[in-house]
Amino acid sequence: MLAKSKISGVGHYVPENVVTNNDLAKIMDTTDEWIQERTGIKERRWFTYGKDTVASMGAEAARKAVANAGLELSDIDFIILATLSPDYYFPGPGVKVQEALGIDTIGALDVRNQCSGFIYSLSIADQFVKTGMYKNVLVIGSEVHSHRLDKSTRGRSVSVIFGDGAGAVVVSATDKDSDAGILSTHLHSQGKYAEELCTMGPGNMTTPVFETDYVSDPEHIFPKMNGSTVFKHAVVRFKEVIHEALNANNMAPTDIDLLIPHQANLRISQFVQAKMQLPQDKVFNNIQKYGNTTAASIPLALSEAWQEGKVKEGDLVCLAAFGSGFTWASALVRW
Ligand code: ACO
Repeated sequence: MLAKSKISGVGHYVPENVVTNNDLAKIMDTTDEWIQERTGIKERRWFTYGKDTVASMGAEAARKAVANAGLELSDIDFIILATLSPDYYFPGPGVKVQEALGIDTIGALDVRNQCSGFIYSLSIADQFVKTGMYKNVLVIGSEVHSHRLDKSTRGRSVSVIFGDGAGAVVVSATDKDSDAGILSTHLHSQGKYAEELCTMGPGNMTTPVFETDYVSDPEHIFPKMNGSTVFKHAVVRFKEVIHEALNANNMAPTDIDLLIPHQANLRISQFVQAKMQLPQDKVFNNIQKYGNTTAASIPLALSEAWQEGKVKEGDLVCLAAFGSGFTWASALVRW
């Protein structure tokens, strides 16, 4: 008989440097009005060079999640870290979280699934715990976007959207009879759309890094996005994958107490809310304060929602994501 897993603790960390839309308007041709109308974002956090890293922010969020779970760091058996903005080309930052937390030589896995990275990681943790291999797994999403955004007018349609931050949860083994638990996870990908939202370099499809024109070509080093294609696919896939999770558990949208969508764009979240016919207070959004933090956005939102008392014992929480790959995913969790 398989064990049962639950989310036992949540935590988050954001850099102290607040960058408002008006701050961006000082360095590129944009306005607070344009950004708010198209994305809902008012401000975001940018890291401080030399202080914040994906690993350090992830470790801070993880410390809080472990404390909120009522555990010690020594109770953690495994680390999974999702990011698209690793501190080094290799190794991934998971190992640096292990070092920062001073945990024994436990395994650390890095996941590269962008906006869906947190749910993919949650799913992996869920399987490890259910099979009995581990009892407490740290699942972290952490991003430093601001270091590699084109902050000139050329990059404005992408750069105004993204922000830096980290969120973490602990996935723990729980009593089989308890109501709380991760009910199911659902993962998808469609690689034919990989180039619609990607950063090409450094990679094997771009000019070798030692050639001098490499850094002068924005195609190679900055994220590029076909915004309208992303929007069209996102609204369809979000709805589809939420229904998939509900159907797998014989539930209906009315059973959801809180939907936490990946914070891609407030307009996408509002579209999904309307399509799912959910009242506004059943969909949690904090993109207004942090922008799109990709793999960090769901644990960051979950942690804030929990802090604000919006996630309570017995609640049915639905997590859903769509993003680069394209990848999309959902999870249903009984709190
Ligand atoms: N400030 C001012 N003007 C801008 C800005 C800016 N930051 N960015 C673009 N513009 C201009 C463009 O140059 C263009 O001007 P033009 O008409 O003179 O050529 C005009 O605004 C319209 O540009 P579009 O790119 O067509 O703007 P659109 O209305 O499509 O909005 C956006 C862009 C917000 C990205 C939209 O396509 C969208 O919501 N897409 C969904 C994708 C998304 O949100 N992704 C989030 C990250 S991916 C993820 O997490 C899933």
